[in-house]
Amino acid sequence: MQWTPTHGEPYRAVPYRPERMPVEESLARAAELRERMGRRRTVRQFSPDPVPEQVVRDAIACAATAPSGAHQQPWTFVLVKDPAVRRAVRAAAEEEERRSYAGRLGEEWLAALRPLGTDEVKPHLTDAPALVVVFQQRYWLGPDGERRKHYYVDESVGIAVGMLLSALHLSGLAALVHTPSPMRFLAEVLGRPANEKAFAVIPVGYPAPDCRVPDLVRKSLGQVLVEV
Ligand SMILES: Cc1cc2nc3c(=O)[nH]c(=O)nc-3n(C[C@H](O)[C@H](O)[C@H](O)COP(=O)(O)O)c2cc1C
Repeated sequence: MQWTPTHGEPYRAVPYRPERMPVEESLARAAELRERMGRRRTVRQFSPDPVPEQVVRDAIACAATAPSGAHQQPWTFVLVKDPAVRRAVRAAAEEEERRSYAGRLGEEWLAALRPLGTDEVKPHLTDAPALVVVFQQRYWLGPDGERRKHYYVDESVGIAVGMLLSALHLSGLAALVHTPSPMRFLAEVLGRPANEKAFAVIPVGYPAPDCRVPDLVRKSLGQVLVEV
């Protein structure tokens, strides 16, 4: 069924009675998920091997089930496979990144990035066989072309991207959240409408055989969880 905006319509409810999972199964699934998610890493060196495109489409479909402010689903996912378009994205991104690393970021930001070993060269944008460019829809256009506000756009799109990354990882693919700053060039290169603002470029693929990742330590549960 095709979605249309539900702006101003009355409340309608349907029953929701998912089967309750036995506690033992819940515990086993949660422990397995924690272990599998713990093995996710951001990959910056990709193999050019193709990925099953349906896996990426399914992951995007998972992301699009995310909750969103007022159920406005303020996201667009552009799946870029065309090598010429990936080259154009890389050229424009590297131009911005050169300025950023040459001083625009400032010493504090550069210091925060140093342990990651990143620089202005972004081969993942052309090596990875697919890029998912995520756009936020800052507003929508009503029936008479009038601008209608979207609520909690940053939060909604952030949650959707988290679900996308989880789905890709659990389906066996690697990804990177790349946020060149500023990102205006992405809407231009990809011909997106004026209400859309780029949120992240997510290269997707398999890690290169010689892929290395920074030696990072994650906060322990005790450092992130406060139980009251
Ligand atoms: C909002 C956001 C923006 C990011 N931007 C970049 C980026 O522009 N370039 C990059 O190489 N990594 C980027 N990353 C990846 C982080 O550096 C990475 O997630 C972090 O170092 C932890 O590593 P892990 O994902 O392997 O656990 C970004 C991650 C997030 C969530």
